[in-house]
Amino acid sequence: MRILGIETSCDETAASVIEEYKILSNIISSQIVHKKYGGIVPEFASREQIGAIVPIVEAALVGAETSLNDIDGIAVTCGPGLAGSLLTGLNFAKGLSLASEKNYIAVNHLEGHLFAHKLSNPEFNPPFLFLLISGGHTQLIHVMNWGEYKIIGATLDDAAGEAFDKVAKMLGMEYPGGPEIDASAKEGDPEFVKFPRALFGKGYDFSFSGLKTSVLYYLKKQEGSAVKKHLEDIAASFQKAVVDVLTDKSIDAANHLNLNRIAVGGGVSANSALRAELSAKGDSEGIEVVFPPLSLTTDNGAMIAAVGTFYLERGIFSPLGMNVYPNLEIGEVIPQ
Ligand code: KG4
Ligand code: ZN
Repeated sequence: MRILGIETSCDETAASVIEEYKILSNIISSQIVHKKYGGIVPEFASREQIGAIVPIVEAALVGAETSLNDIDGIAVTCGPGLAGSLLTGLNFAKGLSLASEKNYIAVNHLEGHLFAHKLSNPEFNPPFLFLLISGGHTQLIHVMNWGEYKIIGATLDDAAGEAFDKVAKMLGMEYPGGPEIDASAKEGDPEFVKFPRALFGKGYDFSFSGLKTSVLYYLKKQEGSAVKKHLEDIAASFQKAVVDVLTDKSIDAANHLNLNRIAVGGGVSANSALRAELSAKGDSEGIEVVFPPLSLTTDNGAMIAAVGTFYLERGIFSPLGMNVYPNLEIGEVIPQ
């Protein structure tokens, strides 16, 4: 089955063609318009996507040396995400589906991050624990089967990626802050400031807003020149606090559920310190820890096409009356 995947849930416009979980093309256009605002401006995001979607989908088809005629189905994100951005992708996919007389399937973006693992290893199958860490989500999910999920823990306030972005902003770094902090922390001492590890050892829920406030108060107490001098150390210390909590709770949850594999997904799974610490801790506990390749960690069309393949192969597709679901959770049945 050759599937076209379209992803426009946030600020990216992405499209990809895959065949039996093999990536034939994967095109992503990221927006720079938001950088000067320090975060995403939803209205700008959807306006840019309206302009980008046709050339990006064309580039994905050309890159895969295929035409719409040879596509067996279309997969598109319908949530969670920004309503205007989701509507742009969904309506485009509906139009394409109607014009080409191919079925389309509305896909849960979070399930997309999970299915990124199927692209890097088609033999990778449940059961396992999934640590989902993105700009909007931080969850531990027991994946019993593809399509069968149980949320074991979740953040009570900010998501991990959101904490990275907000702290990066305090440190004068550009949006998105995760990659900036990751790069800066490589030169810093993670023990320089002992920031709090919220809910450490206490169940599987997370909380990152206290950590963010603690960085803010720390910065307020320092002279500007001291912050400048120790920017890398502060970034490394903050990152270490996040990574320690993510690592500890993932290992505890896997042990609790008797699972010997942890898969990690979402933008924050690109973080180099997390990759090192969680893999090492997993090794010492006999738990295999799997990260997607960097090209599949942040939002992309291939992961959406992968979910689409799974459902379309089973004869499941969506009606043209479909809506978008900005607050969709993983495992939630998409209303039709
Ligand atoms: O999954 P994603 O691309 O979009 C959402 O679905 O939210 O995740 C974006 C998030 C942003 O918060 C970004 O700062 C974070 O992933 N991120 C990182 C890294 N690369 C991206 N966080 C920490 N370290 C990184 N290397
Ligand atoms: Zn995402």
